[in-house]
Amino acid sequence: MEIKIAPSILSADFSEMGAAVKKLEKSGADMIHCDVMDGSFVAPITFGAQMVKNVRPLTKLPLDVHLMIEHPKSQIKFFADAGADIITVHYGACAKISQTYLRETLEEIKSLGVKCGAVVNPDVPVENIFPVFGLCNMVLLMSVFPGYGGQKYIAEVTPKIAKAREYARSIGKPDMDVEVDGGVTEANCAEIIKAGANVLVAGSTVFNSLDTSVTIRRLRGI
Ligand code: DX5
Ligand code: ZN
Repeated sequence: MEIKIAPSILSADFSEMGAAVKKLEKSGADMIHCDVMDGSFVAPITFGAQMVKNVRPLTKLPLDVHLMIEHPKSQIKFFADAGADIITVHYGACAKISQTYLRETLEEIKSLGVKCGAVVNPDVPVENIFPVFGLCNMVLLMSVFPGYGGQKYIAEVTPKIAKAREYARSIGKPDMDVEVDGGVTEANCAEIIKAGANVLVAGSTVFNSLDTSVTIRRLRGI
């Protein structure tokens, strides 16, 4: 399977976001991971659809929008109109509203012609999103608790990656994107890929790198 690296712009200097995005594309990134935080679902606030709209014309890379927000369904159209290629929403934010809210939100994303994905935090069983695997283009397994870059990878997540890949195979979606987000480094990327992930988010590892192209290549396990 193709391994895709999605650097997170959370770790960029927001006053130089355009240059950061162009540099990531030049350095061989496969997607741009946009961490949207609302100060409620997670403590920090980062940016909204306007940032996605502004970076859209600067790169041909897919914009991978990770919504760490409450009531995600109410925001989908803004991010779709801003140019998001894939939007992922948290199981935890949806489950607190209703049993059907996650499915409704994923269907809303797809209805706007955008790819969709469900996200589970490290302490949420991946089985909780098995019912929507068929609807998702990608599933995102958080390997840190959301809110901050630069945290340490939670090793207990590794078996969840294998479970997600196994379940995708069992429903006839062997090549479904399984994304891992948080604490991904050159030291642990091989273990994460071996477990079954094929999309790796990396924020601090990439932005702290002395040579972004080399780091992105190493994160692919090559
Ligand atoms: C955390 C974000 C992650 C984070 C990754 O809430 O969802 O995407 O920015 O940053 P690193 O790779 O530094 O853990
Ligand atoms: Zn993220």
